[in-house]
Amino acid sequence: MGGDALSRRRLLNYLAASPLLAGGGALAQELRTSDKLIAAPREALDVFDFEAVAHRNLAPAHFGYMASGVDGEVTLRANRDGFLKFQLRPRRLVDVGKLDTTMELFGETYGSPIVIAPIGSNAAFHSDGELAVSRAARNGNHLSMLSTVATLSIDDAIAARGRPVWFQLYPTDHWNVAEALARRAEKAGAGAIVVTVDVVARQNWETLYRLMRDDTRDCSACHQRTMKAFVQRKPNFDGIDIAGLTSTGHTTLTWDFVKRLRDTVKTRLLVKGLMTTEDAVLAVDNGLDGIVVSNHGGRVDDSGRSTIDALPEILKAVRGRLPVIVDSGFRRGTDIVKALAMGARAVAIGRPYLWGLAAFGQPGVERVLGLLQTELRAVMMQMGAPSLKALTPTLVRRA
Ligand SMILES: Cc1cc2nc3c(=O)[nH]c(=O)nc-3n(C[C@H](O)[C@H](O)[C@H](O)COP(=O)(O)O)c2cc1C
Repeated sequence: MGGDALSRRRLLNYLAASPLLAGGGALAQELRTSDKLIAAPREALDVFDFEAVAHRNLAPAHFGYMASGVDGEVTLRANRDGFLKFQLRPRRLVDVGKLDTTMELFGETYGSPIVIAPIGSNAAFHSDGELAVSRAARNGNHLSMLSTVATLSIDDAIAARGRPVWFQLYPTDHWNVAEALARRAEKAGAGAIVVTVDVVARQNWETLYRLMRDDTRDCSACHQRTMKAFVQRKPNFDGIDIAGLTSTGHTTLTWDFVKRLRDTVKTRLLVKGLMTTEDAVLAVDNGLDGIVVSNHGGRVDDSGRSTIDALPEILKAVRGRLPVIVDSGFRRGTDIVKALAMGARAVAIGRPYLWGLAAFGQPGVERVLGLLQTELRAVMMQMGAPSLKALTPTLVRRA
């Protein structure tokens, strides 16, 4: 079998097995894996159409880095399957002639409740990296979060977005480094700092490691594996003393770190990666401004719990005392509407915008956001909800 045919067969096998494709009838699944890739963003019918193009465009290791979940990928699959546990209850005879998808958060108004989740190293997917993503966010007026380990600085991301971007903070194992990163973000005018607290142990990303074996390139030609070399490629660390830094995570992290950070910066402060009512209540008690319910897209623990499953009880415990954003597995307008109807303020997406980026650069990201926005609008109309405020818990039920 020739190289092309082999990689085509691998792709079809991957797609056929992909948990991310959950949904659709048998014919729809067959048509999707029928060997036809979209040639331009406008040809895409849904966000999944970009995944196959991303797979073709990317080196196996880079695709693996994006696609991988942790261990047996039980949580990765659960994030998609979780949406089947909930159904929508469409209301009829409601005037939806004027539809309003604007989302307000901390005094800022965005055109959509769809948010760009923070993802490291976007340059691994397209040479325009986070610049393309920030510009796409600007054009659709989406809230956007920039990763600590982005390949663009927070200053440049804010300039490209044309409005404050939120800065995602990995605590690192050195307070001084965390503090310096937070202060840099604050000085740059970040709209909020979002501390990711769900990365604790080694991440066993088997899909990545298997695909790395297929990658014939010398990875060290572009990036060496030491922590020093890693953060030196990340502009948010420029000028920060990283002596002794061994990890962007932190095994001794507790709420004391959050309290200390709360006392250090004036910027709004959120935590990302909460999955339980207990931790959500602690976030309220510790004076945080918001939380992101997330399991890191199934990349950190294989608990098997999807975010959409955890969301209702967390919202109940929070009792509206702070805004709740949710991510992990959101791929459809119906997914987004389910979370908003439960009471989430906004929904962040990760891999789908990477698929668009890897497939076509900025126009791909724009089309991914545009497709989700179009689906969202259609579902809102079908639900008889002319605004995000009209998306209420009575519109969703546990199946
Ligand atoms: C390749 C990749 C890199 C990521 N990097 C980060 C990161 O640097 N910081 C962070 O808080 N979350 C990171 N995440 C998690 C995302 O912010 C988000 O929680 C997740 O992608 C949402 O799930 P989804 O990909 O199913 O939409 C990353 C996710 C992926 C797929």
